[in-house]
Amino acid sequence: MKKLFVKTYGCQMNVYDSARMAELLAPIGYGPAETAEDADMVILNTCHIREKAAEKVYSELGRLKKIKEARPLTIAVAGCTAQAEGAEIVARAPQVDIVVGPQSYHRLPEMIAKIARQGGHVLETDFPALEKFDALPKAIATEGVSAFLTVQEGCDKFCTFCVVPYTRGSEYSRPVAGIEDEARRLVAGGVREITLLGQNVNAFNGAGPDGAAWSLARLCARLARIEGLARLRYTTSHPRDMSDDLIAAHGDLEALMPYLHLPVQSGSDTILAAMNRQHTADAYRELVRRIRAARPDIALSSDFIVGFPGESDKDFEATLALVRDVMFASAFSFKYSSRPGTPAAAARKQIPEDVKDARLQALNTLLLVQQDAFKQSLNGRTLDVLFEKPGRNRHQAVGRSPYLQSVHVEDAAHLIGGIHPVRIDGVFPNSLQGSLLATREKVLAH
Ligand code: SAH
Ligand code: SF4
Ligand code: F3S
Repeated sequence: MKKLFVKTYGCQMNVYDSARMAELLAPIGYGPAETAEDADMVILNTCHIREKAAEKVYSELGRLKKIKEARPLTIAVAGCTAQAEGAEIVARAPQVDIVVGPQSYHRLPEMIAKIARQGGHVLETDFPALEKFDALPKAIATEGVSAFLTVQEGCDKFCTFCVVPYTRGSEYSRPVAGIEDEARRLVAGGVREITLLGQNVNAFNGAGPDGAAWSLARLCARLARIEGLARLRYTTSHPRDMSDDLIAAHGDLEALMPYLHLPVQSGSDTILAAMNRQHTADAYRELVRRIRAARPDIALSSDFIVGFPGESDKDFEATLALVRDVMFASAFSFKYSSRPGTPAAAARKQIPEDVKDARLQALNTLLLVQQDAFKQSLNGRTLDVLFEKPGRNRHQAVGRSPYLQSVHVEDAAHLIGGIHPVRIDGVFPNSLQGSLLATREKVLAH
């Protein structure tokens, strides 16, 4: 048997895609390798979102080149950098055999056969999204109790800083039947929690069994009926697509977890307009108010960019003000990174690196205080924990709270796959600690 090593960069959709690539190559004789050093084929599933992410690939390719000088090794570059840079990758790194974009990786088996036949390089960066989901293997391998499921791909929003509309193509929603089928297979394999993925997941409008376009809320309601599926999450959403029925679903659907990642990027209307986000800071505040009215305990998370071209001190202050008003349970903040081909890259007023650094630090300090306050508010409360895996200590298990934090619980290793009430009695930087109160449901075998 040949051995395959897949290294994944970037977002959860890449994690999903990497698993699908491994499944695609299993029937042609590839099993998993532990490291690149003992693999016959390495796939780098890349991310192009910021410059640093894209550059990582080339240092990894340098390392793989050394391995390949000593013995045969097939190297494939997949993902968003493959899509964005295409043939440039082979020009810069001739050790690469295959370049394949996120919408065409279902053709990997043919591509491997082609280089085996005739040598040389193959490049595939088409956008046949429809074809891809049909061509993927139906036998989804499940590992663990929580899984990702891509329901929507691509983006038509064209925020002026972002490469995703170019690397993932235009918005496409999978038909409901195929999604439901995949969800059922996951649950049959022991999965209890599914995170629905899309670059703009709340713009989902896939064809339902009745032929009509279904909203994400309707899809969630349908999936919530699958027996054994206890938890649903979805990511990433755009504030513009937070429809009334989706907001209402947060109040109505027990399976829909009270955690929402809703990137805002900036709190300045001037910057939001320059970013082409198509909403104001107050519209975001109002949206948050409505979501909290539907589900008062919802934990909100967001993404921020500091140092977008033209961002003044006053603009940045407006971002801090928005954060103070909203109170986020968690957040990711990034320094603006100029990406080739995006409109913002051509803007004249780029922000100096030291200003970006200072703003990032100030924002992170504020966000950390909020994150900490949120976690402290859980101390002493009883939360449902989905037990995911054994912990480091004997008999310990690690699970997830409804708000997505890791929770460590002693004497719970036999409960993996189950959801049980846990009293939180410790708050740590990256996790919570709790004690099992009772076992509520029978432990599912899987
Ligand atoms: N589709 C999602 C997120 C896409 S990328 C959305 O619409 O929000 C994830 C995050 O990376 C973005 O939310 C943004 O905060 C950040 N990001 C994207 N492009 C960036 C850039 N050029 N520089 C810095 N951060 C960027
Ligand atoms: Fe990028 Fe904006 Fe689309 Fe998100 S909505 S993927 S940030 S263009
Ligand atoms: Fe990166 Fe592509 Fe995801 S650019 S963040 S891997 S969509």
